[in-house]
Amino acid sequence: MKSLQSNIKKAKKYLDQNHCISVPSETVYGLAANAYSNVAVKKIFKLKKRPSNNPLIVHYYDLNKLKEDCYINDSFIKLYNKFSPGPITFVLKLKKESKISKLVTNKQKNLAVRFPKHRLFKKLLKNLNYPLAAPSANISTKLSSVEASDVKDEFGSKIKYVMNGGRCKIGVESTILNLINKPTILRFGGLEISKIERVLKKKISINVNPKKKISPGQFPLHYSPGVPLRTNAKKPNINEAFVLINKRKINFKNYYYLSKKKNLNQAAKNLYSLLRKIKKDGYKMIAIEKIPNVGIGKTINDRLKRASKY
Ligand code: TXA
Ligand code: MG
Repeated sequence: MKSLQSNIKKAKKYLDQNHCISVPSETVYGLAANAYSNVAVKKIFKLKKRPSNNPLIVHYYDLNKLKEDCYINDSFIKLYNKFSPGPITFVLKLKKESKISKLVTNKQKNLAVRFPKHRLFKKLLKNLNYPLAAPSANISTKLSSVEASDVKDEFGSKIKYVMNGGRCKIGVESTILNLINKPTILRFGGLEISKIERVLKKKISINVNPKKKISPGQFPLHYSPGVPLRTNAKKPNINEAFVLINKRKINFKNYYYLSKKKNLNQAAKNLYSLLRKIKKDGYKMIAIEKIPNVGIGKTINDRLKRASKY
């Protein structure tokens, strides 16, 4: 308990001084900084090599602070009550008087907000006087981090502090839902769309490949392991690592399991760490068998499709 307190204290000290640190969340690790500070937010973009027109998600402890920065609506309240804290990000209208740094949204009038569930992240937010802007803790277009050691792989000694919160439970990023006009999914993620539809009692439109760059992070190339990746593979080519979704007798040597029982939640949890491992094992090419396109399988397929644009 004492070390928990001292970790929070250490994290707060760096954040109060406008530095970036890495924080664990239930989805993926974040690269966090004070969302009210231009100096701090600038550092996030620089470290990640992220284009300045790609806005950041801002993380809050609870509703009270959020109301100072955004307008909320009925759909938001219903979903917030059901799913927050958790793997859902809401895009809301920014208030004029909000203190959020203009760099967070690239001067846009809407803000993506999330309430993380990981107990360290929550406890940290509770101890701060400002919300945290936090993109995934990886270099732009690369694989997200799901363990503290991944963050160190990505950034080395360039970040002041990585708060170790263990392996991320969900392993893929949050689902993003635009609630400004008609509810629209902007990114598949850790929360299944059917669950959101059940709460709102209607079908939600999906716009995860916008022509207009509403969510520029949804650029075609993203989540890349840094080597070519092939999806829907029936068998591996020579020298390819082959990724399987359930255990069975096979004649190939170079295989890895995303799940041994075709469990899609487990596959999502393993996705980024397995791709990272395969690359570390020295493979220059990856083939992945077909993943069922249901539930969180849609999120896995979305990430694989973008990762294959290498
Ligand atoms: O699970 C997550 O969402 C993680 C953890 C750390 O919270 N964060 C995360 O952030 O995935 P990032 O920056 O890697 O991805 C955020 C996505 C980007 O595609 C960005 O373009 C989109 O959210 N986004 C941010 N603000 C937006 C806004 N105001 N309107 C539309 N899309 C937005
Ligand atoms: Mg990201």
